[in-house]
Amino acid sequence: MRSTDLVTSVDDLPHHEVVRLMVAATGHHRTDVLVGIDVTPEQVARFGGYVERRRANEPLQYIEGSVPFGPVDLVVDHRVLVPRPETEYLFELAVARVESPSVIVDLCTGSGNLALALASVHPDASVYAVDLSGDAAAVALENARRNGLDVVVLTGDLYEPLPEHLLGSVDLLVANPPYLAADEVANLPPDVLAEPRGALVAGERGDEVLERIAADVHRWLQPGGVVICEISEYAVERSLAHFENLDAVVEKDLTGTERFVVGCRRVE
Ligand SMILES: C[S@@+](CC[C@H](N)C(=O)[O-])C[C@H]1O[C@@H](n2cnc3c(N)ncnc32)[C@H](O)[C@@H]1O
Repeated sequence: MRSTDLVTSVDDLPHHEVVRLMVAATGHHRTDVLVGIDVTPEQVARFGGYVERRRANEPLQYIEGSVPFGPVDLVVDHRVLVPRPETEYLFELAVARVESPSVIVDLCTGSGNLALALASVHPDASVYAVDLSGDAAAVALENARRNGLDVVVLTGDLYEPLPEHLLGSVDLLVANPPYLAADEVANLPPDVLAEPRGALVAGERGDEVLERIAADVHRWLQPGGVVICEISEYAVERSLAHFENLDAVVEKDLTGTERFVVGCRRVE
């Protein structure tokens, strides 16, 4: 069968998604798939399975199995959030803002996206990645190996698993914590609901995890050290207020949405 016939035979999913599923099923380049290639019976069956999974609202990236994130390529599945474009911008902000960090911490690491992309750019830095979910930490570790990067992956609650000798010595701390309020879940599209709830929802208000990150961050940063956290566009003022211990500002993402708090520990 031809790839073009198979792609056009699926009319209940967006065309660009069907093309991506065909690329994933065949391993061929998108251009070849669009021009038309012969698809083996095994690939036809795989494509059919992928289409069914997408119809059942599984995130496209889980079906594809991996996503690029800055300089790294990451395995993603039901254990972790799919990294979002705005978080890739957080990575870029961090690279632009902190020149040669020696110690980097990524709280709420999920797939390890921020920790690994930063480790790739700063190969001499000591990088620590923390997640409360053992499943997510396992994915982050797998992604570290996959990208040949040396990152210490720890399972636990925010700062709790970090070695004490890091107190006062972190140059760059990044976090994309869960920041939805419990009642926001009802409005989410079904494929987002397939992602881990603990990666999405922080609590009744939405800023509970961010508040706890902010409350302790000055103890871990060295003077002049920088924290960058992704925040909810619906809780900008409240999010900024949590960082009163630091010199903190709000930064926008590429769509112009207020999306990050960038804080710096004052040099006394
Ligand atoms: C929004 S996801 C972000 C994942 C990844 N950093 C990214 O940008 O795609 C939040 C992550 O924080 C983790 N998490 C939630 N509460 C946590 C806590 N108290 N301590 C550490 N990690 C936590 C979740 O398991 C989830 O993997």
